[in-house]
Amino acid sequence: MDQVSQIREKIDIVSFISEFIALKKAGRNFKANCPFHGEKTPSFVVSPERQIWHCFGCGKGGDVYTFLMEYEKLEFAEALRLLAKRTGIELISQKGNSIASSKKEKLYEVNSFAKEFYHFVLTKHKAGEKAREYLTKRGVTAKVIEAFMLGFAPHAGTALVKYLISKKHYAKEDLLDAGLAFMGRSGLMDFFRGRLMFPLFDHRDNVVGFAGRVLDGDVPSKYINTRETLIYHKGEHVFGLNVTKDAIRREKQVILVEGEFDVLSCFENGIGNVVAVKGTALTENQVNLLSRFVSKITFCFDGDKAGQEAIKRSLSVVEKKGLTPTVIVIPDGKDPDEALKIEPGVFKKAVKEDLGVYDYLLQKLLAENSTEAVEGKKNIVSEFLSFISSVQNEVVKEHYLRKLSKEVETSYESIAKELQRISERQGMVPEQTAVKSKIKRSREEALEEYLLALIVQNEKPKAALQKAVLVIAESLSKERSYQKILYHLLEQIEKEQPLGAGLPEELLSSFNTAVLFPLPVFEDQEKVLIEIEKVAKQLRRFYIKKKMKDIALAIKAASNTVETEEREVEASNVAEIKKLEELRTQYSALAAQLEAI
Ligand code: GTP
Ligand code: MN
Repeated sequence: MDQVSQIREKIDIVSFISEFIALKKAGRNFKANCPFHGEKTPSFVVSPERQIWHCFGCGKGGDVYTFLMEYEKLEFAEALRLLAKRTGIELISQKGNSIASSKKEKLYEVNSFAKEFYHFVLTKHKAGEKAREYLTKRGVTAKVIEAFMLGFAPHAGTALVKYLISKKHYAKEDLLDAGLAFMGRSGLMDFFRGRLMFPLFDHRDNVVGFAGRVLDGDVPSKYINTRETLIYHKGEHVFGLNVTKDAIRREKQVILVEGEFDVLSCFENGIGNVVAVKGTALTENQVNLLSRFVSKITFCFDGDKAGQEAIKRSLSVVEKKGLTPTVIVIPDGKDPDEALKIEPGVFKKAVKEDLGVYDYLLQKLLAENSTEAVEGKKNIVSEFLSFISSVQNEVVKEHYLRKLSKEVETSYESIAKELQRISERQGMVPEQTAVKSKIKRSREEALEEYLLALIVQNEKPKAALQKAVLVIAESLSKERSYQKILYHLLEQIEKEQPLGAGLPEELLSSFNTAVLFPLPVFEDQEKVLIEIEKVAKQLRRFYIKKKMKDIALAIKAASNTVETEEREVEASNVAEIKKLEELRTQYSALAAQLEAI
């Protein structure tokens, strides 16, 4: 057996996936809300028997490797390495292209050394003195510096380059690829110079990049970030999560701030469940990441206009993932860092009294517009509805529509009508329908899939199959994969082989789908058999009707020929007429069968 399969065999997929998401037993399978797309009813299924998973909502699926790759955004080689380590199997690399030296791993490694270097300069070296003073002035304690591994990049243009190349023996390319250096006129130069360094970690503690802040504020780019690299993509990470994720889980809430210093100050003041988006609007990737830890996101952006706009832009992604958005309002347009410096008590109180985002937005609109004039009402309604249109939960939506209706003294119906108009204009299609239509099949196919699932997931597949075959056998054709699988199952049961054994490759994916298909819960075996009979009968009706349709067409064609020939030649064509009669007999036989079901 190859190593990939060997490792796969050693890991139980159910307990493995359970480490990431909560699985619930459902018949022979396990279910959960899919971690890869937003949903509120579970369509993510794991089969312990087949050791596979599949989501019936977004269509993703596979084995332990693909799960880990999807979940942790890894390449196959990385997933393989992690799982190998877990199972204690030592990977034997093929012809020197050592799996252990994958590029991403190398970049994490070189970044980690850079982080150590910057941290050393900040905490120990004389080149870090100004930076230490600066941090002290801003109230950043040694504890915080250690927790977030802050650093300082010296002014001298090649300090890091020298360290990494002479001391750590990295190649120029590694430094360039990590975004730590660039090619200057006189050779390789440090990318960050004279800046306070904030390493950016992913939630698995890899250093993916850095942000560097100047010490004196008067330059056009106060902060610079690592450029896009193989491991750093703007908008995929949040600052602080590696330190704060436990507090976030514990509090069941993540407080979202704009800047690095806001995170540091909150942390220093005992507000541990905080991360920074680094001055941009929240992205879908970031929301997906956070949704692994919590279901409530609390915006605590600057009180200025830009901060408020960022909240609005971030809302729809939060809604799409089904998370609850709230806000913390900081008075006087301050950021959390400043607010905590002035009056920590006031800020902490505001944290405890976070508001529903829509309550907050409505409050603001009401404060900014007069409800006396029709113009004011119009503004409030159209602004507010543009936010509400992305709300997924109907109860929440109606709650705010009623509230709005009351505030602007306009009937609920008019408000609802206006929302409809706005949603159409925005081209908002509820996600659910979009997903469904993508995987839409004919009713017949859906029934076949369901029937097969009822059989293969049954506690006594043999009895289940016999029940079905009794009903449909003679109408069963071999056109589609589900029907072919039914034939195979019949064979396997006769030979007393395990189900699914020896299935041809092209049928495997349909078979796996049937094994995972989320079935309703039945009281007992009796009820399942009744259901199987019912579905088999429906299918048989389909098959018969289809045949009848074909025959009806043939009859029509045949009668046309017969008619023409009757007119043109006096004598009738015996063979044609005979064929016609035969078709008619077949047709009425089928009609009788249909009647009898
Ligand atoms: P501090 O003085 O460091 O607290 O910054 P601030 O409170 O003035 O932060 P500001 O509101 O200007 O920015 C919030 C966040 O946006 C910062 O923490 C950075 O992450 C990011 N940011 C600020 N300025 C820049 C910039 O010039 N370039 C980039 N790329 N990001 C920036
Ligand atoms: Mn600030």
